[in-house]
Parts: sequence; C-alpha cells; structure tokens
Amino acid sequence: MLYTSKEDYGKIHLSKKAIQGENIWLNNNCNSCHQLYGLGGYLGPDLTNVYSNKNKNEYYLKAMFNSGLKSMPKFKFSSYEKETLIQFLKEVDQTGYYPNTSAVSEYNGWVVIKNKKYENR
Ligand code: HEC
Repeated sequence: MLYTSKEDYGKIHLSKKAIQGENIWLNNNCNSCHQLYGLGGYLGPDLTNVYSNKNKNEYYLKAMFNSGLKSMPKFKFSSYEKETLIQFLKEVDQTGYYPNTSAVSEYNGWVVIKNKKYENR
C-alpha cells in the first residue's frame, strides 16, 4: 500500500507531553534496543504494550528508566522527563496491540486486526 496522504494514518495524535517523551525516546536511542510495533533494535523487549501490562506499573517503569537492569542502561532523567516518557508509552499503548494475535483473514483477502481505537463502542 502506498500512503499518499496523512489522512490514511487516522486520527491518532500524540499529546504535547507525549511528544516531549517521544523526543527523549529519540534523543536517547531507546529504539536502538527496544521496539515499538516490532520495529527497532532487539537487545531489549518490545515496549508497545508495556504500559498496560498488569505486572508492570508506572513505579516499575520509572525505576527502570533511572536504575537500569543488566544491559538496560541507567539514565538520569528528572521526574518530569520520566512523566513524559510514561505519557509517550501510554499513548503508544492506546493505539493497538503488538503482537496482534487476533488478526483474522477474510475471504476477500483483507486481514482484520483488533484495534484499540474501535473497541468499547
Ligand atoms: C543498550 C540497550 C538499551 C537501551 C539504549 C535502552 N534499553 Fe530499556 N532495556 C534494555 C534491556 C536489555 C532491558 C531488559 C532488562 C532485563 O529485564 O533484564 C530493558 C528494559 C526496559 C524496560 C522494562 C521492560 C519490561 O517489559 O520489563 C523499559 C520500560 C525500558 N527498558 C525503557 C527504556 C527507555 C525509555 C529507554 C531510553 C531512554 C531505554 N529503555 C533504552 C536495553 C536498553
């Protein structure tokens, strides 16, 4: 598929705070070890849905940012910077599922995936 217009991306927009978090994400090369929707480096885990993982709350995530673990480096983020990273991961999480285990192939060739945007309606 060729994307020619921004409208194909739908109505997903990051908030201002999440964009600040995204910039921290980009400036610190989190993506060189982590993936979002399977894209990125593979040293660390995919973080698409880490925010909604019931075993990992915000305290755990914030602690991970600044204390590191094995090959996860220690960063020195302020509490506001940590808040923006959390906001970024939260809003990414709201866009969908990865991996998407409930994709269904229909007879006409379309693959219908479960999308958080259209749930609970
Ligand atoms: C050099 C590679 C590397 C970089 C760069 C890196 N991480 Fe990690 N990260 C890891 C690894 C490896 C783990 C898994 C640690 C473990 O559990 O043993 C991890 C774990 C995490 C976790 C916990 C995931 C979970 O499911 O428990 C979060 C959240 C995280 N990193 C966020 C970040 C953020 C945000 C950045 C950028 C500011 C970043 N990481 C940069 C390697 C990296």
